[in-house]
Amino acid sequence: MYKLQEIDRRVGLFKKGQRVLDLGASPGSWTLYAAEQVGPNGQVLGIDLHDPGVALPAQAQILTLDAFQVDPESLDGPFDLVISDMAPKTSGQRHADQYRSYELVMRALELAKSVLKPGGTFVAKIFQGAEFEDARGAMRELFANVRIVRPKATRDESYEVFLVGLDFQPTSS
Ligand SMILES: C[S@@+](CC[C@H](N)C(=O)[O-])C[C@H]1O[C@@H](n2cnc3c(N)ncnc32)[C@H](O)[C@@H]1O
Repeated sequence: MYKLQEIDRRVGLFKKGQRVLDLGASPGSWTLYAAEQVGPNGQVLGIDLHDPGVALPAQAQILTLDAFQVDPESLDGPFDLVISDMAPKTSGQRHADQYRSYELVMRALELAKSVLKPGGTFVAKIFQGAEFEDARGAMRELFANVRIVRPKATRDESYEVFLVGLDFQPTSS
């Protein structure tokens, strides 16, 4: 939660009444923070491989789904914001973990492309590695402004950063 709060403080992610898609939502602290920020007239839809087992306010829910399996049409978009804290189960092999993190970011971006409103915002966690520039480049094709945020809370895992895409510009393809 603190990481999302810090990104929010730096970039200004939320407004009351927004609809948010939260990828990799368990155990639920980002979902709870987002639900509080969007308020009772907003909506937060979380997705995770695992059931969070946490009580959520009425405007939030977390579905047990694999982001690679989910049909974007079923998500009932559009959303103002797509946030992804998805992370692979780390294997200890840094490059393999970085590559799996990159794949999760690219999947989150694919989903965002289908469900984000024009002008919308995308946030994704990535383990910084060889594919980092590819992910940033893919985001630059879709967002007017792409920022890198390294929350202070991630100091211990120094290779984890967040890519933030502002002002979604949908392409016709
Ligand atoms: C760092 S945790 C998320 C923490 C969460 N944002 C919070 O604040 O409580 C990363 C999550 O990504 C999820 N994840 C990894 N691969 C996924 C996938 N393919 N589809 C959905 N969730 C996935 C994991 O199950 C894990 O719960």
